[in-house]
Amino acid sequence: MTAVGIDAIEIWTGNLKLDLPGTFAPEKGEDPEKYTKGLGLNASSFPDSYEDIVTMGANAAHRLMERKGLEPDDIGRIDVATESAFDNSKPVSTYIAGCLEEVYDDDFHHANKGERKFACIAGTQSLDDAYNWIRAGRNRGRSALVIATDTALYARGDAGEATQGAGAVAMLISEEPALVELSTEQGYGSADETDFLKPNQQFPSVDGKRSVQVYLARMREALEDYESVAGDVHPDDISYIPFHTPFPGMVRKAGLLGYRHITRDTSIEDDLADEIGRQPRKEAFDDEDAFRDAVREYMNALKETDRYHEWYAETIEPTLSLSREVGNWYTGSVHLARTSALKTALEEDRDLAGEILLVGSYGSGAQAEIHAETVADGWREEIGSLNVDQQLAARYDLSWADYEKVHDAHNHDVDDDVGEFTTPENEFVFDGWGRMGERK
Ligand code: HMG
Repeated sequence: MTAVGIDAIEIWTGNLKLDLPGTFAPEKGEDPEKYTKGLGLNASSFPDSYEDIVTMGANAAHRLMERKGLEPDDIGRIDVATESAFDNSKPVSTYIAGCLEEVYDDDFHHANKGERKFACIAGTQSLDDAYNWIRAGRNRGRSALVIATDTALYARGDAGEATQGAGAVAMLISEEPALVELSTEQGYGSADETDFLKPNQQFPSVDGKRSVQVYLARMREALEDYESVAGDVHPDDISYIPFHTPFPGMVRKAGLLGYRHITRDTSIEDDLADEIGRQPRKEAFDDEDAFRDAVREYMNALKETDRYHEWYAETIEPTLSLSREVGNWYTGSVHLARTSALKTALEEDRDLAGEILLVGSYGSGAQAEIHAETVADGWREEIGSLNVDQQLAARYDLSWADYEKVHDAHNHDVDDDVGEFTTPENEFVFDGWGRMGERK
């Protein structure tokens, strides 16, 4: 079977930065460590007033096409995943294609364009759609462009405000991919939930504490479902687990849940038995609450073991380095986590080709998906071509007064022209309706 997966990836961050311990915490009267240690975030990426989901997506896609030497004819499908869309009819992919057509002689007349929505998991769903399209043999040798782009902004004063972020991830999905090959098996955990939603409103209504529990419940179900088709996962077989990362503190919880799950019935559980006992088995409990209490107690003991700490440092921590600096990018977030892991491996000069990643995607509303990916031979060149560190370093550091102004500029309910904090350079800019995507 021909390998299908991600051939190339590009990242575009919002051009502004909000420093959480330095600027946000003092203004909120909170201990800076609530953000750096509790949530695990140093900063949020923020869009300048001339940036939006279209410009960020077009900028990421353009960089990807230039680097790979692609023309519009090479692309048979453009899917945009977003939960920040502004048009209920015309998909954001058409706006992005329109931007790109300004800089190429050709156009995307024969590409299938669409938009995917299921909160943050839509980025992975678009990846799956592209994979299925190629596997079905409908691609005529062409690749798919998947763009996950969001301005993940919350109302001022909302508990989620500290986790804001803005950026886009563009991915090229092809046969014989250079970066990672996707597995055929997937596991899902899905249920109708209302802890995070945006019914015809710009900022989400969120029950933050409950959303954390829903994330964990769906992720556990997805892991179980994945194992029912792919067989039991063993920690030694997995190099990294990139999870959807609304903030790294969430992944701290998901990592523990994942570790308990994949060590069950393995020699690792046997090795840990003397120290912390064996994992509670549901069959041994008459009462559901007693079983839950026993699991909680086991998890509390597990997270203090050296074995768990070492596994977390090797398998999960490297997935969080970019997220710590940019916050939640919604649909792009899990793809940023994969990139962080591969970037760390490159910096450590690891030989990763042939190794396995287990990818845990999630979207509120709510659904989790687990699938495996095999790192391909070209991963070093692909990850080595990213300029994300330079982009992050070039961001303008907002003062609190700047932040309030630019947040208002992105709030559709406030008519506030705040000018620009940075000067666009070789990038698409939002210059008012009708002149969207002009390249400066
Ligand atoms: P909060 O209630 O302000 O924070 O916001 P908290 O009081 O729960 O503190 C956060 C953590 O910091 C806690 O750690 C504290 O103990 C710790 P934990 O106990 O959870 O491990 N802490 C400190 N640590 C060190 N020093 C200190 C200190 N103070 C506190 N001084 C909340 C947290 C999640 C509610 C908020 O950020 C929120 O509402 N976020 C938005 C919703 C969200 O991100 N949910 C995540 C799961 S749902 C999801 O991922 C989907 C999503 O991406 C959307 C989509 O799919 O479309 C959101």
